[in-house]
Amino acid sequence: MSDETLSNLLKEDRRFEPPADLAADANLTEEAYARAASDREAFWAEQAERLDWTQTWDRVLDWTDPPFAKWYVGGRLNAAYNCVDRHVEAGRGDKVAIHWVGEPVDDKRSITYAELQAEVSQAANTLTELGVGAGDRVAIYMPMIPEAVVTMLACARIGAPHTVVFGGFSSDALASRLTDCQAKVVVTADGGYRRGAPSALKPAVDEARAKAADRDGHTVEKVLVVRRTGQEVEWDDAVDVWWHESVAQAPTEHQWEAFDSEHPLYVMYTSGTTGKPKGILHTTGGYLTGCAYTHWAVFDLKPETDVYWCTADIGWVTGHSYIVYGPLANGATQVLYEGTPDSPEKGRWWQIIEEYGVTIFYTAPTAIRSFMKQGREIPDARDLSTLRVLGSVGEPINPEAYVWYREVVGGGRTPVVDTWWQTETGSIMISPLPGVTHGKPGSAMIPIPGISADVVTEEGQSVPNGSGGYLVLTEPWPSMLRTIWGDDQRFKDTYWSRYAQQGWYFAGDGAKKDDDGDLWVLGRVDDVMNVSGHRLSTTEIESALVSHPKVAEAAVVGAQDPDTGQAVCAFVILRDEAGDGGDDIVEELRNHVRKEIGAIAKPRQIMVVPELPKTRSGKIMRRLLRDVAEHREVGDVTTLADSTVMDLISGKLTSGK
Ligand code: WT7
Repeated sequence: MSDETLSNLLKEDRRFEPPADLAADANLTEEAYARAASDREAFWAEQAERLDWTQTWDRVLDWTDPPFAKWYVGGRLNAAYNCVDRHVEAGRGDKVAIHWVGEPVDDKRSITYAELQAEVSQAANTLTELGVGAGDRVAIYMPMIPEAVVTMLACARIGAPHTVVFGGFSSDALASRLTDCQAKVVVTADGGYRRGAPSALKPAVDEARAKAADRDGHTVEKVLVVRRTGQEVEWDDAVDVWWHESVAQAPTEHQWEAFDSEHPLYVMYTSGTTGKPKGILHTTGGYLTGCAYTHWAVFDLKPETDVYWCTADIGWVTGHSYIVYGPLANGATQVLYEGTPDSPEKGRWWQIIEEYGVTIFYTAPTAIRSFMKQGREIPDARDLSTLRVLGSVGEPINPEAYVWYREVVGGGRTPVVDTWWQTETGSIMISPLPGVTHGKPGSAMIPIPGISADVVTEEGQSVPNGSGGYLVLTEPWPSMLRTIWGDDQRFKDTYWSRYAQQGWYFAGDGAKKDDDGDLWVLGRVDDVMNVSGHRLSTTEIESALVSHPKVAEAAVVGAQDPDTGQAVCAFVILRDEAGDGGDDIVEELRNHVRKEIGAIAKPRQIMVVPELPKTRSGKIMRRLLRDVAEHREVGDVTTLADSTVMDLISGKLTSGK
């Protein structure tokens, strides 16, 4: 973010007070902040009591071997029982858990908690039959259909950690994840619907399975396939199993067992600063406590009357915490939508809100900005008066988008909670509370009760109000990641080494405290980009580019983009033998990245250049490339090994090719 944008942001002085009716009946009140601060462990013990445990913990937190935390030590529970069965046992079996809306209009289904219990039990029985036991990993590569949620819960029920891989990732990305966590079984579908057309998934699983075997010597034993679109699929009788011939025929009863609070619940891969994605490990008791508490407190959930909708894909952590684990642990009723926002019509989301009377809505700034572009007539054509709380997540929300969201979608009544968190934090860390904290467009405000954060200098000094620095979390929290799958050292190095002395968690984000001490999260300070709220690594895309036979070297930067927040911009040097690469070189390379990683990583722009700006020690100066990509005057070049390189690059750009 440029300094100018930043100072404009911090001049933002609009304030929105919590609406009186919401404040009068808020789940948490002001006193929670002080109470949590005065006895953190007692506060977190109280939050864990939202769950049903078969055995209570002996100790809330064991932090004797930092950064390896243990929460609710000695406690035992089953996450799926907490998300499903206990609501049925409490007499709420007929309550709708999920209003599922398929992309094809009229393809919809409402599932009660009792029905969910039966389906999760069936899937748990089938997975067991396929040889999956407690501790075995199951990969999930599926569209947004109920079976995806059912599979996650079935894994949790039998203690098999799941790893959900976003359906937009390529077979290569899937293969490396299958190998990294040594997945025994993959659950997928023939395909899903995207913008009205079936889009295949099974072929990518077949390819990934072959790659995992040939390249990495890893065998996936079984593939369980949901028939969603009915499209043709290749079939291997030794491996492939249809869902409708197994799960749908399995007994609807399944005896769950309790697992240790620290039993692994799932691994979620996310991009880091190297080319290799990190498998973020979340465990059971602390994670579920964090999800249930924050979903209740930050959205002021009233499970009896609210209809909640989070538009994320379950392939990302938001879908894990705020579609599956938080809302279901709280016994909420929610909407689950399969498709894209604008299919078959631009107003599809608003039509869904009207149809189901959605009261709490959680989405990303990128989506809001694209609706702003389409104009307010589209949401205005629908009755959105049921909405009472709006949430934003994934990237900084610019004040214009915040105000539009509040005014146009929320009719000027609804608080907007701008929620800051990460795959690693497991649940929301910094956010206003809609009935307690006033809102400021663009600010995530303050840590929620129970969480301690600060903005600090390189040396670890807390910055004064009005200044910026690095965002840190200064105390452990229940839903924190426990490690990086199979790589404790990388876990320590990435998050805990920068402020090792203080024992703080380094988030990788820059932030600023305004004059009131409220927090503004500004974006990543490492080689991670945020494109439409999706996290991408510059190095990962560089490796993909360099794997193309015509490319000698590549450098990738995230440049500001009015629609997607940041956009991927790549600079490549071609190999001598590739000449000028041919007329279609840019398209060829963009498609290559899509094939290697997935469509979300496809660069917006690729520039073929003669040289890259490097320091004397050979480090690429991405800062200068960002200047070029953002059409700014190029900054200080004195540390470059060859200071004329930037002239070469800029000259090349103005000459057009
Ligand atoms: C990164 C984490 C949290 C679930 C979705 C993304 C950025 C996230 C905000 C926000 C400003 C935000 C940060 C963070 N981010 N929420 N409200 N304001 N930035 O999870 O893929 O793990 O990405 O997203 O840069 O570090 P993720």
